[in-house]
Amino acid sequence: RDGAAGTGWSSLDRSAAVTASPDRRVVPDGAALAAAVADRFVDVCRRALHSREAVHICLAGGNTPRAAYRLLATEPRRSRIRWEAVHVYWGDERAVPPDHVDSNYRMAREALLEHVPIAASHIHRMEAEDADLAAAAARYDVTLRQHLPHDAAGSVRFDLVLLGVGTDGHTASLFPGTPALDVADRLCTVGVAPTGQPRLTLTYPVFDAAAAIVVAAGGADKAPVVRAVFDGGGDMPVAWLRPKTGSLVWLIDRAAAGLQNTA
Ligand code: 6PG
Repeated sequence: RDGAAGTGWSSLDRSAAVTASPDRRVVPDGAALAAAVADRFVDVCRRALHSREAVHICLAGGNTPRAAYRLLATEPRRSRIRWEAVHVYWGDERAVPPDHVDSNYRMAREALLEHVPIAASHIHRMEAEDADLAAAAARYDVTLRQHLPHDAAGSVRFDLVLLGVGTDGHTASLFPGTPALDVADRLCTVGVAPTGQPRLTLTYPVFDAAAAIVVAAGGADKAPVVRAVFDGGGDMPVAWLRPKTGSLVWLIDRAAAGLQNTA
């Protein structure tokens, strides 16, 4: 399928090997993983804001990023970022109200956003509490197109996309075997978790156009999926990211890399 309308994305062919094999950086443990993710966030902000007025970051949900968000909310990292210039977005959201314990927005707000001087108008949350999820996805599509810079091909371009990975190989709410995997003509769509929980999720064209993607994986339960991606080519959603010109880096702790920690 070619020429996905308005996304600047030309193909959904996932049969080819990952064009540029992702870089992998293994760190000792969960604390080091959080620090590595937080440092990447700081670096992207500082580099972007040398030459631009705003930096656009897509946050991951799930539990893995929580410790990184806390580090960003505290010194020494907090004051290394010009928060007034930061815009945040989400890669996916669960269909719950924003104050629900499952809300990815709530997690980021509590761990990070309420502790830093970021403008409320720069916090672009997905309104996944809307009974009409398709309408909420369409509104988020408009939000992205309005606020994000575009690359030469017309795709919206995040400075940084943070992603996690599930034990089944999903990333954001791109779950194996679901229709969201094939959406190429919209930036945001409706997804569904294996539990049946509806979600909103960004689509591959958005992730693939980003300047940088960081996938963070920590803990021994992620070791099989990490091994599948790096040793087996990984026939699963997280392995189907195809950065157009940007970078893709996996940050992994030793447990997720399948390594024993020495005492
Ligand atoms: C979500 C996600 C999802 C998450 C992985 C890993 O909202 O659930 O964004 O893709 O990143 O499921 O989750 P953990 O970090 O909790 O293992």
